[in-house]
Amino acid sequence: MVHVQGLRCRECGREYEAAPIFTCEWCFGPLEVAYDYDAIAKSVTREKIAAGPLNLWRYSDLLPVEADSAVDLGTGFTPLVRADRLAAELGLGEVWLKNDTRNPTNSFKDRVVSVALSKALEFGFKVAACASTGNLANSVAAHAARAGMRSYVFIPSDLEQGKVVTTAVYGGNLVAINGNYDDVNRLCAELAGIYDWAFVNVNMRPYYAEGSKTLAFETAEQLGWTVPDHVVVPVASGSLLTKIRKGFDELYKVGLLDEEPQVRVSGAQALGCSPVAEAFIENADTIRPVKPDTIAKSLAIGNPADGYFALDVVRSTGGGFGAVTDGEIVEGMELLARTEGIFAETAGGVTVATLKKLAADGVVRPDERVVVYITGHGLKTLEAVAQTSRPTATIAATLDAFHEAFDIEES
Ligand SMILES: Cc1ncc(COP(=O)(O)O)c(C=O)c1O
Ligand SMILES: [Zn+2]
Repeated sequence: MVHVQGLRCRECGREYEAAPIFTCEWCFGPLEVAYDYDAIAKSVTREKIAAGPLNLWRYSDLLPVEADSAVDLGTGFTPLVRADRLAAELGLGEVWLKNDTRNPTNSFKDRVVSVALSKALEFGFKVAACASTGNLANSVAAHAARAGMRSYVFIPSDLEQGKVVTTAVYGGNLVAINGNYDDVNRLCAELAGIYDWAFVNVNMRPYYAEGSKTLAFETAEQLGWTVPDHVVVPVASGSLLTKIRKGFDELYKVGLLDEEPQVRVSGAQALGCSPVAEAFIENADTIRPVKPDTIAKSLAIGNPADGYFALDVVRSTGGGFGAVTDGEIVEGMELLARTEGIFAETAGGVTVATLKKLAADGVVRPDERVVVYITGHGLKTLEAVAQTSRPTATIAATLDAFHEAFDIEES
């Protein structure tokens, strides 16, 4: 049962019918999905959710499309694991990792794409499209294949091989653009005006963005229907961060949480592309677009569409922002792998390195229950650690050679 009232402008509040549109005709503000929360409160219970499928569609009451018609590869309900070794290294207390590397195409983007393409089919679209920094490309190509849709996926031409190959393999049209993500996005906005395609992050953006709420829903359910004190979230366009906040708030609105959530939200960016973090650190009202230059290519959006909303969430919840260097990103990836056995891509390195920074600065505190969102798999960005993560030794297949290389005292 879908409880959507329509779309509402996030700036002026004007309402629209649910359609494949994304900006307000009056003020050009972005539109978002509006729900009938009273109706949802009557229909949803913790028990009903627990009896649902072990994927994101268990929360379909709070999503804009029917679960029956979902384009589903099994996304969501990823592990939330306690990270005591990482916490000890950083001088923190209760730290949890939401391991979204464990989605069908190995990033959280499967959540947004599953919702967006399900809605696209409902609207009757035959072609899926997107502008991507890599992970979205993987996911749109895979879900389009699953749904039997044609696809046009646009990426900057300098992406990692692990992002290019894992998109092209699904057989759609992969278009590499000589330019950065912001150039790709501009082209896609023009194409969206010409072709009747479902651009998941252009004309389908209001529906697409809703998929990210399921990260908050799962976190709360996996913590026994309570919320963390503090979350740390990677930021590219800023949509994920704002929707995690919206997700916690909605759970309270529909009666699934006993207490009003007071979650501090902190954002993580790479120093080579940190327009939102910079505005936060400088206490500025404007976000200055930048030309990205970072190994965290998945977060390399120089002109973030939801930047102001993300800034507002971080400020209003008393969170913080971190911006980390390429070296710190690699160290963050290695720290996570070494302490918790999770291999994350560069965006995960950004998030862990930011956690480290915010912990050292006292912004994330040892008395807080912290959830850190690990949003993409390390095999997608092997280049980042290929130089530093090497065999300990390369030797002949003899005991002598082994003993020469390793001075082992204990068995
Ligand atoms: C792995 C990963 N994490 C986080 C993000 C940030 O998402 P958003 O654009 O919603 O801020 C992205 C965006 O592409 C991503 O690929
Ligand atoms: Zn408006």
